[in-house]
Amino acid sequence: MNILVAYATNSGGTAEAAQIVTDTLTTQSHTVTLKRITDVNPDALSTFDVILFGSPSWDYKDQEGVPHEDFIAFMEKMKGKTMSKPFAIFGLGDRSYPHFCGAVEHLEAFVKTIGGTLVGPSLRIDGFYTKPGNRETVQKWAQQIIR
Ligand SMILES: Cc1cc2nc3c(=O)[nH]c(=O)nc-3n(C[C@H](O)[C@H](O)[C@H](O)COP(=O)(O)O)c2cc1C
Repeated sequence: MNILVAYATNSGGTAEAAQIVTDTLTTQSHTVTLKRITDVNPDALSTFDVILFGSPSWDYKDQEGVPHEDFIAFMEKMKGKTMSKPFAIFGLGDRSYPHFCGAVEHLEAFVKTIGGTLVGPSLRIDGFYTKPGNRETVQKWAQQIIR
């Protein structure tokens, strides 16, 4: 399948997770395009069979636990458009915040708003750099998310 992995990051964790997802799916013989969400043209989404979004959770304009601001800008750009495609979401966060991986719920809601479907359960990673086993968890999720 032709898959897009689009991500945003502040400190590099989501970029690393996106690379793991990309490598895993490539090993499964998929054709994978890895891009920062800022480099994704909304109209180009339709050229992919499946779209994966990866975002950390952050603060934005007094709101806590929301997607990276680059995703907020992307969601704005998508306003009024429909994209009835399969999607999957992965999020990086930290359980010490009240809205653990809150970005994931925002992106799930966004996918529904544009008419997309979620192909499986979203992934929420706690303390990507600090907790052991996270890279393996990302890899396992990627291995089973697209069937
Ligand atoms: C200012 C700030 C706000 C954050 N807010 C949240 C949050 O609301 N929920 C959450 O789960 N993690 C939160 N985090 C943790 C980050 O999402 C987490 O460190 C993530 O791994 C960063 O990903 P990145 O390396 O791709 O930037 C916050 C971190 C910072 C510095």
